[in-house]
Amino acid sequence: MRFSTFVSVAALFDFAVAGRWTEEWPFSGLPSFAKLPFYRCLVENPEFDIALLGIPFDTAVSFRPGARFGPQAIRRASQRQNGLRGFNARAGINPYQDWAHIIDCGDIPVTPMDNQLALQQMDAAYEELINGTNTSSGSPHAIPRLVSLGGDHSVILPALRALYKHYGPISVIHLDSHLDTWSPDSYPSYWHSNTSEFTHGSMLWLASQEGLLHRGHCVHAGLRTRLSGRDWFDYDEDDRVGFHRIHADEMMDLGPRGVAEQIRKIVPKNAPVYLSVDIDVLDPSAAPGTGTVEPGGWLTRELISLIRHLQDLPLVGADVVEVSPPFDYADLTAMAAAQVAYEIITNMVQTPLELETRSFFSNI
Ligand SMILES: *[C@@H]1O[C@H](CO)[C@@H](O)[C@H](O)[C@H]1NC(C)=O
Ligand SMILES: *[C@@H]1O[C@H](CO)[C@@H](O)[C@H](O)[C@H]1NC(C)=O
Ligand SMILES: *[C@@H]1O[C@H](CO)[C@@H](O)[C@H](O)[C@H]1NC(C)=O
Repeated sequence: MRFSTFVSVAALFDFAVAGRWTEEWPFSGLPSFAKLPFYRCLVENPEFDIALLGIPFDTAVSFRPGARFGPQAIRRASQRQNGLRGFNARAGINPYQDWAHIIDCGDIPVTPMDNQLALQQMDAAYEELINGTNTSSGSPHAIPRLVSLGGDHSVILPALRALYKHYGPISVIHLDSHLDTWSPDSYPSYWHSNTSEFTHGSMLWLASQEGLLHRGHCVHAGLRTRLSGRDWFDYDEDDRVGFHRIHADEMMDLGPRGVAEQIRKIVPKNAPVYLSVDIDVLDPSAAPGTGTVEPGGWLTRELISLIRHLQDLPLVGADVVEVSPPFDYADLTAMAAAQVAYEIITNMVQTPLELETRSFFSNI
């Protein structure tokens, strides 16, 4: 403990004496996430262990658009995070001054004109990034970890496709007010195309059809969406997709620690886990800037505390999605998303993947 205190003070000192013009204020300079080193990773191929990746795609939404502006807004809202003021007092580490080499990978340039093409681009980009990047461990088997900044929630599908190829089926912890396991039939329409099946409410159904999910070991938490029809049909379908459900109201009864315990009963500790945070899991008072608001959600402090209670799960990837700045007020939503990304990065630093290959998880 004393040693790490010493290191932090020394780091502070380094900042102080670094140079005549090296100081950066939160309101100066270019806004990479948390002022981390910025690369266009798809072009420059830098080495990293953990990276933020913007996916500015929002043409698969069923209600209010705007999440294509999410990555820029989240980066801007993250400017008061940096190596100097990055010590996470809840976790007891500074993720930006630890073993992991963390960078901002820029955005995938996704077309807003054609969703089929956009999905191809996202598939290819995510796969290139995790396949073609060397981590600081030097191990040829080590796979870097990405925290995607959405974009609408459909951006999880390309992530799961690429991660599946390395790890096999993934346990998804899905924090959201909605199910997102809706089959394309749940949007009844006379008109249909293949592309119309790929939406921000159907992508987990698609992922399940493709066998990407660790069935029975996936969980939604924060649910409070209205359902179709006059019965529990949507939940029956969700069962078939392989998810457990924890409702938003359970946070009041159980608290963040209790909700985390419920999640742990479902998600094994030795299996690859993907954490997906739809910012609409928060109450609209805490996060108004999102596409599909549902009143009656969690507070930011509850979400952060829940994530802290999940810190030892082996995250192979994560996202924070559905931040729609045109509907935001005073950057509330973007700031919550930036904080959530920071807490997720903290977890990834606290829990390195022992052996970042499929074989590590082969005992499941
Ligand atoms: C990763 O390391 C291998 C072997 O050390 C090297 O051949 C390759 O070019 C490196 N890749 C990148 C993207 O730096
Ligand atoms: C990426 O790696 C996976 C797993 O080894 C492999 O199946 C896939 O073909 C690779 N993709 C590319 C573009 O190299
Ligand atoms: C639609 O999807 C099905 C199954 O995924 C595929 O077989 C078919 O070729 C696709 N059709 C078009 C027009 O892309």
